[in-house]
Amino acid sequence: MKWLILILLCSTSIASANHELEDRNLSAGQILYTNNCASCHGAKLEGQPNWQSLNSDGILPAPPHDATGHTWHHDNELLFEYTKLGGKGALAARGITDFNSGMPAFGGVISDEDIWDTLAFIKSTWPEREQDAQASRNPPH
Ligand code: HEC
Repeated sequence: MKWLILILLCSTSIASANHELEDRNLSAGQILYTNNCASCHGAKLEGQPNWQSLNSDGILPAPPHDATGHTWHHDNELLFEYTKLGGKGALAARGITDFNSGMPAFGGVISDEDIWDTLAFIKSTWPEREQDAQASRNPPH
């Protein structure tokens, strides 16, 4: 019984403090990143060349996930949904339905916990300034 209460307590504190990216398994996240994300976002999180200009097929290349990109401009929820639902799904959930995204959905490919570990690894590579800026995007609740 004790362990059950402990688990319940832990999960509510994670959800209510909105600290999904804290105390994550960074080495698991690094492996997940290499296996699932590096092919597009780069082994060193450097992204694809000319990532700010549309390809000839009208799709944006994969942006860097290092501090030169814009990943750190987004709150936890957006990063999570972009990864789980893919770019098209995440934007559709926000009412934008005419956007063609090259970002695939990882829901069903890796677990929610794996997504958080991957994002936490990405975050861990940023300088403190970008980490703080990203943390401040999350609404307190
Ligand atoms: C097939 C190539 C591909 C793979 C694999 C891929 N991405 Fe992406 N990703 C993209 C593209 C292209 C975009 C930019 C297009 C857009 O904004 O919709 C993007 C955008 C994103 C964004 C939003 C932009 C940003 O910088 O915040 C996030 C977050 C993201 N990817 C996370 C991931 C994670 C985490 C993984 C691995 C689990 C991953 N991606 C794997 C192609 C890919």
